[in-house]
Amino acid sequence: MPLHLAGAMKDGRVLIVGSGGREHAISLGLAKSKSVSEIHIAPGNAGTSEVGLNHDVSADDIDSLCELAAHLNADLVVIGPEAPLVAGLADRLREMGVPCFGPNAEGAKLEGSKQHAKRIMDSLGIPTAGSIVINHPSQIEEALQGFSNPWVIKRDGLAAGKGVTVTEDYALAMAAAREAVEMDGRVLIEEFLPGEEASILVLMDESGFSVLPTSQDHKRLNDQDEGPNTGGMGAYSPAPIVTESVMCHVVERIIQPMYDYLSSQTSPYRGCLYVGLMIEEEMPKVVEFNVRLGDPETQVTLPLIESDLGDLLWATSTGRLSEFDLEVSPKHAATVVLASEGYPENPKKGRALTGIFEEDSKIEAIIHHAGTMREENDVLSSGGRVLSVTGISDNLEGAVRNAYARMSKVELKGGHYRRDIGHRALEER
Ligand code: AMP
Ligand code: GLY
Repeated sequence: MPLHLAGAMKDGRVLIVGSGGREHAISLGLAKSKSVSEIHIAPGNAGTSEVGLNHDVSADDIDSLCELAAHLNADLVVIGPEAPLVAGLADRLREMGVPCFGPNAEGAKLEGSKQHAKRIMDSLGIPTAGSIVINHPSQIEEALQGFSNPWVIKRDGLAAGKGVTVTEDYALAMAAAREAVEMDGRVLIEEFLPGEEASILVLMDESGFSVLPTSQDHKRLNDQDEGPNTGGMGAYSPAPIVTESVMCHVVERIIQPMYDYLSSQTSPYRGCLYVGLMIEEEMPKVVEFNVRLGDPETQVTLPLIESDLGDLLWATSTGRLSEFDLEVSPKHAATVVLASEGYPENPKKGRALTGIFEEDSKIEAIIHHAGTMREENDVLSSGGRVLSVTGISDNLEGAVRNAYARMSKVELKGGHYRRDIGHRALEER
C-alpha cells in the first residue's frame, strides 16, 4: 500500500552517498519514484550524472557530507557504502533531523568488527562458523591446529573486501594471521563452512523488516570460481539455492532474532541488514553481516522491486516500514561486471568506454556505472570495477543472455568479465 501523502517526503530531495554500481542503481530506482523530485549524489560517477547532480564530496568526508545535506535541505540521505556508516554519518544526520537510510555507528559495528558480529550471533544462538580471536602471535600456531584445513583467517575491521583469507596452505594461513595481529592487534580464525553462498538483503527499522529478492554474488575473479576474491564480478536474482525451506530457517533463526535484538537498542536500526549465507543441505549459516545494500546484489535486486523505491526507503528511514507492502516482480535479473585490466591488484584507469549509451529496445538490460568519469564528451574508466550490465527476463537463462548481449556492445581496452554468471543455478536444473 502506498504511504499516505501526509507521511511522504516534503520536497522529495534525496542525497545518495557513494559512487558505485549500487548507487547508480539506487539513483535509477529513485528517478522512477513519484515522491522524489531531485536527486543528488556524492560523489557519484558518469552514470549518476545522467540521473541527478553529482557533488564533488568524498563518501568518507563526514563533515562535508553533513554540510551538503544541510545546504541542499535534503529530505532523505541514502548511504551506500559501509565506511561512512561505521564512521557515524547516520548518527550525525539524525542529530541534524535529517532522515537517513543506514544504521547508526553502533549498528554498523556488525560489519565494522567481525568479533562484535560473532559475539552478537553467539549470544542470540544464530548459526555461524565457530571461531576464536587471537591477540598474540605466539597463540596462532596452536589456534590454527584446532581447526581443520582449509583455514579461514579474518581481519577484525573494514578491509574493503580484502580482509579474509581462505586457504589450504598452512604457511599462508600462518602468514595472514601474523600480519593481521601485527596490523590490528588481533585476528579471527574460524571454521571453514562448505556449501553454496547466497545474499539476503533485509530492509529493517524498529517497526519491522522486509526481505528483498534473494541473490547470489560471484566473488572470485575468474570463471568456475577461480582466482582471487574481488568486490563481486556478477550476481543473479532470485537465487534458487534459497528454497522456501531455507528461507523459513533464515527468517526464524537469523532475521527474526536479529530484528528482535536491533529493534530493542536505544538507537533504532534503519537501513539494510545484508545477511551473507553459506547453505549446505538446506541449512543456512551466517558468513557475514553487512550493514548496507550489497554491490553487485543491488543491481539485480532493485530492478525487481515494483513498489515505489522512494517511498520504500523513506518508510525505512522514518521507522514506518511495517506500513509498506513490498511488491516484487516475478522476473529474473542477472548482472555481469566489467573490470579494468589489472583488477583487482592494479587496475588500469583513464581508458575510454564506448557503446554504453546506445539504446537497444530488443534487449531488456540496464547499464550501471561504477568506476566511470566524464571528461568532456567521453566517458573514461576510473576504477577497478567499471560498470555492470543487468539483464532482465522471465527466466534466468534469458536474463543472462540479455546481460551478455548488451555487454558485447561495450568496449574498454583490456576490460574483462566473467562468462559464467549464473552457472550454479543453471547447472542445478
Ligand atoms: P566475508 O568478508 O566474511 O564475507 O568473507 C569473504 C568470502 O570468504 C565469503 O564470501 C566466502 O566466500 C569466504 N568465506 C568467509 N568465511 C568463510 C567460512 N567460514 N567458510 C568458507 N568460506 C568463507
Ligand atoms: N557483494 C558483496 C558485498 O557487497 O559485500
